[in-house]
Amino acid sequence: MSSDGVNKGRRRFLTAATSVVGAAGAVGIATPFVGSWNPSAKAKAAGAPVKADISKLQAGQMIVVEWRGKPVYVLKRTEQQVEELAEIDQYLKDPASNNADQPQYIEGAARAIKPEIMVFVGLCTHLGCAPKFRPEVGTPDLGGKAWVGGFFCPCHGSRFDLAGRVYSGSPASQNLIVPPYSFEGDNVLVVGVDQGAA
Ligand code: FES
Repeated sequence: MSSDGVNKGRRRFLTAATSVVGAAGAVGIATPFVGSWNPSAKAKAAGAPVKADISKLQAGQMIVVEWRGKPVYVLKRTEQQVEELAEIDQYLKDPASNNADQPQYIEGAARAIKPEIMVFVGLCTHLGCAPKFRPEVGTPDLGGKAWVGGFFCPCHGSRFDLAGRVYSGSPASQNLIVPPYSFEGDNVLVVGVDQGAA
């Protein structure tokens, strides 16, 4: 693909990401939490699994699901974003996630059951702030050419890629946590139940 084609693709992606943020802002919600299928507050406190409908999630969009009182980020990555994860090992502290908190069935650069769907706890592994979604590519203050989109923690500046892997030079030392999760069919994500355990 020509570089012009790549840029056009990225522009389209950024437009989609921006409109999601705009829609959430219009109704006064800081983060688009998904609540309709969630269990009762009592069941949630006890650690019940949480289901989310991901049928309408577009490539480049992210939703937040609450599980055990924590925000779980669910990001649908583009094909290009998945491919680029394999090209930035040199900039990461733990590219193979050897020291990461993640289920055994999570492996490789994509850190996901389905490569396009990334699921992780949205709390920085440094001191627990919520990293911000920064999908734009090549941002100079986030690493320039090393930055292929990711998450930036505003508290002390940790940077994570779109698989939640921490960049070198960040105060956080571990990749973002991947919780146990699974799918029911193509459209329902279940956070809190291991793949194959249903
Ligand atoms: S809490 Fe994220 S960098 Fe410190």
